Amino acid sequence: MKIAVLPGDGIGPEVTREALRVLDALDLPGLELSEADVGGTAYHKHGHPLPPETLEVARAADAVLFGAVGDPSCDNLERHLRPEQAILGLRSDLGLFANLRPATMFPGLEDMSGLKPEIARQIDLLIVRELNGDVYFGEKGIRTREDGEREGWDMMSYSESEVRRIAHSAFRAARTRKSRLTSVDKANVLETSQLWRDVVCEVAQEYPDVALDHMYVDNAAMQLVKSPGQFDVVVTGNLFGDILSDQASMCVGSIGLLASASLGERQTDHGTFGLYEPIHGSAPDIAGQGKANPMATILSAAMMLRHSFGREAEAARIEAAVAAALADGVLGGDLGGDAGTQEIGDAVVSRLLTTS
Ligand code: IPM
Ligand code: MG
Repeated sequence: MKIAVLPGDGIGPEVTREALRVLDALDLPGLELSEADVGGTAYHKHGHPLPPETLEVARAADAVLFGAVGDPSCDNLERHLRPEQAILGLRSDLGLFANLRPATMFPGLEDMSGLKPEIARQIDLLIVRELNGDVYFGEKGIRTREDGEREGWDMMSYSESEVRRIAHSAFRAARTRKSRLTSVDKANVLETSQLWRDVVCEVAQEYPDVALDHMYVDNAAMQLVKSPGQFDVVVTGNLFGDILSDQASMCVGSIGLLASASLGERQTDHGTFGLYEPIHGSAPDIAGQGKANPMATILSAAMMLRHSFGREAEAARIEAAVAAALADGVLGGDLGGDAGTQEIGDAVVSRLLTTS
């Protein structure tokens, strides 16, 4: 079980440390950790947000545990040197095209949601976001038109094989849940989305047991706050998935609780190679103060045990320990409480040990 640990910037190192303590408490045999620099931290030390050594460490591992990237001191660098390019580079270099972002309401936190508690209580969904295509990775630029006006442009495209493979991931994920899949696009306006929809329908033939429907992204954004209980698995492109997953996080109360797995095709001895990260960013405003909520990273480590290491029982134990800590009122500042990073880590570890 070789894990590449990439703590990154801002609160990344603090939250990653707590996730590692939780893994350590499980006392799993054969755990090997190797750490490397990424993001602004790597830029300041090595002149690049994703140095070749870091990529090597990630490639040589069975799974990557990732903190966060983003550093305001890098905001004026050329785009290819900005911290965000590190995560985009990892996702694309490692072929991690399927991003799983579960959003579930933890009992007792309904009041933290921006939604009415009785609506918030319904949330139990999984966003399957395509991660290697779309405007994120298309050609882009800023050009000067003949009339002298500057024009920014980003190319949006999806090939049918890209849509097909993420559709398969989503249908398979739906089968492990309530067998309902909503494909989100903007097929009323975009050709990219029309092809997306056509290919998802083709793939659906192979999954007659999964109920498929389609929704335009603007409607999906509305439905997500109006009646989130209608969603089980949502599959969508890179850009729409980025936006809808942040929205889903606020529906459950805090972005500090949402974990993610990014998976590709490469298999490990007991699962799929993947990168695991909290969906929140580096939160530079609270970095280094021991205030950040590490739960999203701890839950990402649980996803790692499940998807890359075939350790479902341990993954479920971590998730139960986090839920128990929340139910006992161990709340970080993001949830209106005052528990610090380490205190939350301690609380999860102690519940993990008492439920074993
Ligand atoms: C995310 C983030 C990234 C993204 C940024 C940091 C490039 O917002 O993981 O959702 O847009 O994918
Ligand atoms: Mg995002």
